Amino acid sequence: MSDWREPWRLARERVTDLYGRHVGEPADALPTPALVVDAEALDRNLAAMNAALAGQTARLRPHTKVQKSPDIALRQIAAGAVGVAVASVWEAAAMAAAGVSDVLIANQVVPADKVNAAAALAAHVSLTVAVDDARNIEALSAAATRAGTEIGVLVEVDVGMGRCGARSGPEALRLAEQAHAAPGLRLKGVQAYEGHCMLVPDRDKRIRMATRAMDTAAAALALMRDQGLPASTLSGGGTGTYDITGRHPAVTELQAGSYVFMDAMHGNLVSGFEISLTVLTTVVARHGHTVILDAGRKSVGIDFVSPPMLGHDYTARYFAEEHAMFDTDERFGADVGDRVRLVSGYAPTTVNLHDVLYAVRGGQVEQVWPVFPRGAGHGGFLTALLPG
Ligand SMILES: Cc1ncc(COP(=O)(O)O)c(C=O)c1O
Repeated sequence: MSDWREPWRLARERVTDLYGRHVGEPADALPTPALVVDAEALDRNLAAMNAALAGQTARLRPHTKVQKSPDIALRQIAAGAVGVAVASVWEAAAMAAAGVSDVLIANQVVPADKVNAAAALAAHVSLTVAVDDARNIEALSAAATRAGTEIGVLVEVDVGMGRCGARSGPEALRLAEQAHAAPGLRLKGVQAYEGHCMLVPDRDKRIRMATRAMDTAAAALALMRDQGLPASTLSGGGTGTYDITGRHPAVTELQAGSYVFMDAMHGNLVSGFEISLTVLTTVVARHGHTVILDAGRKSVGIDFVSPPMLGHDYTARYFAEEHAMFDTDERFGADVGDRVRLVSGYAPTTVNLHDVLYAVRGGQVEQVWPVFPRGAGHGGFLTALLPG
């Protein structure tokens, strides 16, 4: 592959060839199930997040694993984001290939193929990764040195979620000292993701927990600074804590991502944003008040919360692979062949099931956006970044 950006170019070309015919058509005529983005609601969500962060220390670095769409990421940046956060080196490559210049892999980059890909990618984009392991720091340093590049480093601190991250301030400090001394790496600060707070329904409790979590992260950052280390970034947070972590005075980057689309899970917990993502479905059978839709687990993410129908309060009896079965009542007017919209239970695991997002404005398809890279795979970037 002659150009490392080739996988993204091919993805866009493929989507334009196969799905571009729908541009200009009424959204309600799309073949179902279809992943539809209300572009006006999306724009309002971008503006609402900007307004929420106005005057705060924290700048927005949206987590783009939610939408897996470089097109939306570029809109977020145009609206004021400092760059993006991603979950994998492959997502980082897709964002960089599409023109995003500042990418944080808010995750551990392991094993060697990904470390080497990250080192190669750092030649083309300002790339930062999270670390929580001394051996990983050694591997990243060696790979960046071999590639002649520099990788930024945030030491991840566990602030109560118990997933990745150094388990104490002193442990984080040791990792920071190691990263600072390592050739090919540039220590930038701390990452702390307070994921255990996101779903706490009691808002006061969520505020207390998230504030405590970020205080812990800030203390680790202060420990590094006290030792004279060049640690200035504190990156963390999500949609569930955007107005808590985003207002913490020590936090410099907010990694919220779900606010762009929202979903049933966040809709129940977070105010300030609208549902902009729905799955357009068709009623394929109706027997009395039992309604069957042509969208199941292969087209709508059911994690955390069962996907509701937009504008209705019915809950699904079940989701099979290609069917959703709802018990409705006399209020429900749709019949076989009619369209019904579902709100995803969880947007990130819905988007990943589709080739394409249809951006709709004024009821018409305005653009088609590739979902890329889909799934857990590398989308061709392994070959593109490390040929031979
Ligand atoms: C490291 C990290 N940062 C931020 C987020 C926040 O994303 P969201 O706004 O979708 O909650 C997540 C979500 O899983 C995450 O894993």
